[in-house]
Amino acid sequence: MIKREKHKNKISAPGKIILSGEHAVVYGYPALASAINRRLRVDFSSAKDITISSNIPMGGGMGSSAAYAVCFSATQLLLQGKKWDLDEVNKRAYEIEKKHHGNPSGVDNTISTYGGFLWYRKEAENLKLFSRLTPKIPLPRLYIIDSGKPSEPTSEMITFVKDRLTKRKDYIKSIFKDIERTTRSFLNYLLDEESTRLEELIDENEQLLEALGVVSESTKDLILKIKRLGGHAKISGAGGRKTASGIILVYHTNDKKIMQLADKHKLNLSSVSLGEEGVRIERTG
Ligand code: MEV
Repeated sequence: MIKREKHKNKISAPGKIILSGEHAVVYGYPALASAINRRLRVDFSSAKDITISSNIPMGGGMGSSAAYAVCFSATQLLLQGKKWDLDEVNKRAYEIEKKHHGNPSGVDNTISTYGGFLWYRKEAENLKLFSRLTPKIPLPRLYIIDSGKPSEPTSEMITFVKDRLTKRKDYIKSIFKDIERTTRSFLNYLLDEESTRLEELIDENEQLLEALGVVSESTKDLILKIKRLGGHAKISGAGGRKTASGIILVYHTNDKKIMQLADKHKLNLSSVSLGEEGVRIERTG
């Protein structure tokens, strides 16, 4: 007798990068995020038969935990026989993220749910504003270099910034305000409403994140090497202080130089595409 395989449902959700606004977004400042071409996938036929696979590196700032929370919520919804509802998926995923990270902004689960490019702002716990946007300019090729897995989880980095804010309120707030300025310039760059250069936006954002204290010494060295070759780079996500800081987003007008640097220092380099689709039911069969 031929044994029939049970019908499997497949759901996938993307990872993300933060173009500008990480950390500040936890305190109500805006962030710009993009879904990327790395996905977490769940295959399931029942609550007891679930398989997870992913090509989003864990704990590296690419939103692996949010993609998991989003896929898990979507799976739950379907197993409960409810209708496909992105707002509901996002709401549930945020609750899961809160259990993991304590006080997340919600930007990671929101970008993984809706995909594309997102302008996001948490006004209050129960009021999160966001808007999908379509860049009006062709974006150049961007790369990701892995600076290594941070030794601190996101929750610890969020607490670190919170402690700094308590101790040096005016200084940290002034950094947040500068981050907001950069995030707004980034928005205007994407919408072609301001003649800012991507190079400057990336450099400014990185400088501010370094001032915030979320970039490790070894990652700063790596970014300096990239800059000396004429490139531009920033961490993306929560960062890391003690050892590595997760992935860094890299841009160079001459791609070859970045490849040479990665080869020379045996770095894990890959190109990344932005504006990818959010959570979706994969076609089966
Ligand atoms: C987002 O990827 C990283 C942080 O801004 C935390 C958050 O927004 O929840 C550091």
